Amino acid sequence: MGSANADLVVAVERRPGAGETVLGSDTVVLPGGKGANTAVAAAKLGAKVSLLAAIGDDSYGQLLLDSLSAAGVDTGLVRRSERPTGVAYIFVTPDGENSILVSPGANSALASEDVDLPGARVLVASLEVPLATVEHAVAVAAENGIRPVVNISPPAKLSSKTLAALDPMVVNEHEAAELLGQDADPRALLELGPKSAVVTLGARGALVIEPDGVHEIESPQVEAVDTTGAGDAFTGALAAQLAQGADLVTAAMLAVKVAAISVTKRGAQPSYPTTAELSL
Ligand code: RIB
Ligand code: NA
Repeated sequence: MGSANADLVVAVERRPGAGETVLGSDTVVLPGGKGANTAVAAAKLGAKVSLLAAIGDDSYGQLLLDSLSAAGVDTGLVRRSERPTGVAYIFVTPDGENSILVSPGANSALASEDVDLPGARVLVASLEVPLATVEHAVAVAAENGIRPVVNISPPAKLSSKTLAALDPMVVNEHEAAELLGQDADPRALLELGPKSAVVTLGARGALVIEPDGVHEIESPQVEAVDTTGAGDAFTGALAAQLAQGADLVTAAMLAVKVAAISVTKRGAQPSYPTTAELSL
């Protein structure tokens, strides 16, 4: 579950400062949103995925449905809201880094009453939808033996009951610093209560933190063109592996590979590899 956005992507030499006008490239409209991205990443790897999300009754909503269907994601739980489909305004700079402004629109309308997890083994959630809805979904998952994986992105303050159910919580370095304070040891994430934690480290790979120890996972080195949605690719790949019964370290090893491939191509969803592309 999570957001579904139209990504309006513009390549810029540098980000505009306050009061400044900067000219960029033509706008490219791509399917995005952390929830939809994660779903597509997992489905492209062969997982059976259903997306719980909310879109508007507009052309951007249709763009998302088309992309989800093309990737094999079930859209039966994608709700139609009266609000417009979420939009992300994305600036990509020559180093492949991005700045994103999200206008949530319909994503804000995803409610606890919408939560339905029929036959799920793993619940994957991210935080561009209301926190209360995510907390409700995690509670439903925990009660039904469904493994909750939550990417705490953007950072949000989850209740200790929700945190205690996570297996794993997934964060990047910035999000870890928001949760723990600057320069804290990522191992301290387990003190927040989750059963396990994964910290993504960009080009440096990832850390898997379990009660019995920390595993460093190295990433293949690639030339970054666009890092948008790399974290979502990671989380989707991780969840797909966990659903198939992989242990967390094995799952994270595949997930760093998937994320590395994703940054070599423009956009989020269109850059995610299939299982066949992974073995090239
Ligand atoms: O994580 C990348 C995503 O964040 C983009 O696709 C954008 O829609 C925002 O949700
Ligand atoms: Na990409």
